[in-house]
Amino acid sequence: MLAEKFAQEIQAILDKYPPDQRRSAVMPLIYLAQRERMYVDRKDMAEIAEILGISATEVASVVGFYSLYYDQPGGRYRIQVCTDLSCALRGADVFLQELCARLGIKPGETTSDGLITVEAVMCLAACDKAPMFQVQSGAGLEYRENQTVEKALELIEQLRADAARARVSGSRGRE
Ligand code: FES
Repeated sequence: MLAEKFAQEIQAILDKYPPDQRRSAVMPLIYLAQRERMYVDRKDMAEIAEILGISATEVASVVGFYSLYYDQPGGRYRIQVCTDLSCALRGADVFLQELCARLGIKPGETTSDGLITVEAVMCLAACDKAPMFQVQSGAGLEYRENQTVEKALELIEQLRADAARARVSGSRGRE
């Protein structure tokens, strides 16, 4: 239950909005709910709706509209490659296909270790720096511009190493 798990953070978010405009807190609440698992499920959406006094459909429509929100499980890291027109003209489609092929997945899929999801998105406002992508994780967003497949694979190896380190320190913390 979000309300129990994140009671203080939820209150801090709600306090930023006048009582009659609480519905405006929908985006930060979705972000909060998504932070740990990198997606929100129907229960999360229903709970957010209840907190804000809006319908679950309204919450779902925000989740569906923005490319930074997810309603399905994916990798711990989401690599979002812009394949919109300007980037496509600079080879973004080929970059995406080749990167996915090297990872053994198709666009929109997640690697077998469950860590990396690669997907195509629309304009990310770096139109002259393609191929480019953003990496979304629980830690936030990072932009990578003027990429090659080799550079992207190096980054992915770093992300895998980070995840392995986090797993080790997490298991030590439980010892
Ligand atoms: S078209 Fe790709 S960043 Fe704008």
